[in-house]
Amino acid sequence: MTLLSTIENKRCLVTGGAGFIGSHLVDRLLNQGAGVTVVDDLSLGRTANLAHHLGNPRFSLVTGSVTDSRLLADLVVEHQVIFHLAAVVGVKHVLDDPLNTLHVNVEGTRVVLMEAFKHQTRTVVVSSSEVYGKSRHIPFSESDDLVLGPSSAPRWSYAVSKLYGEHLAMALAPQGLPVTIVRYFNAYGPRLAGDGYGSVVAKFIVQALTGQPLTVHDDGCQKRGFTYVADTVAGTQAAALSDRAVGRVYNIGSQEHVRIVDLAQTILDLTGSKSKIIHVPARSVFGPNFEDINLRGADGTRASQELGFTAQIPIHQGLAQTISWFKDQGY
Ligand SMILES: NC(=O)c1ccc[n+]([C@@H]2O[C@H](COP(=O)([O-])OP(=O)(O)OC[C@H]3O[C@@H](n4cnc5c(N)ncnc54)[C@H](O)[C@@H]3O)[C@@H](O)[C@H]2O)c1
Repeated sequence: MTLLSTIENKRCLVTGGAGFIGSHLVDRLLNQGAGVTVVDDLSLGRTANLAHHLGNPRFSLVTGSVTDSRLLADLVVEHQVIFHLAAVVGVKHVLDDPLNTLHVNVEGTRVVLMEAFKHQTRTVVVSSSEVYGKSRHIPFSESDDLVLGPSSAPRWSYAVSKLYGEHLAMALAPQGLPVTIVRYFNAYGPRLAGDGYGSVVAKFIVQALTGQPLTVHDDGCQKRGFTYVADTVAGTQAAALSDRAVGRVYNIGSQEHVRIVDLAQTILDLTGSKSKIIHVPARSVFGPNFEDINLRGADGTRASQELGFTAQIPIHQGLAQTISWFKDQGY
């Protein structure tokens, strides 16, 4: 079993590295002297997110699917660290095609973890705060019970697919796989997809910059621990470098819990937009079986104590940087 003290000169495989969070992780790893291979099928990710690395000899991009076991066998053997981020993500993508969500997130994770297991490669599996479901124990702590809704509500297929990956990792860890699970909480920042498919932050910024009303679901009192992406990837790297983290789960999220309606107002203030805030029933957008979560906030105690990780970027600062990026994209 190979554990790590530094990321410098390590060969890292980042699945889903052309996506929003994955591309920021790639930036961080390359900046710290690692070699990075990205495997991404470009279904949701974009080459543009990695364009600035294409000439770098320490970087390569492989277009392919994590469900392709032959491809993954070839890739895993050449790397010392795996960051597994590839997934179908975002409520709307999940509701549009729950079958594909289950296939990619379950089968892709199985392929990655079983290849990692063969070589006992240091691996970080990315999970989600969605797995806490409707838990009323706030903020969510890693040892809490997970409270999911019925299988007739397709949104839970994403949480179940992520939990499958967690359980597989937990089953392989005692068999020698040095694996850690990180649960992300509402990451936001530059390179969010502007279609607002997965992120309320992106949706509101685009609405504000294009003079459309900001569409808040229901009363907007739902709270989220919005986490600037630089913090998300710092926590991810910290998990890979900690020996203590093997076989453990960590929340990677901000402790600042913001109401959706306040997020909308802050974005209006920061953009100077004259757009109005309007309220729409979430079920009119996502269908009659949709179940929303009132508060999704991380208890960061374990990540702080064991990884030395605490989110650093205040929401105003992160939003200002994100808005600036969207403006640079022509919004
Ligand atoms: N964005 C968040 O707030 C958030 C919250 C919790 C968990 N996560 C997790 O973080 C990870 C990254 O999410 P993101 O927000 O960057 O989303 P994203 O959609 O930008 O990134 C996912 C990437 O995976 C790629 N991908 C999808 N199917 C693939 C396949 N079969 N083979 C190879 N690549 C494939 C996509 O093309 C994309 O580049 C995911 O595992 C997601 O579940 C994200």
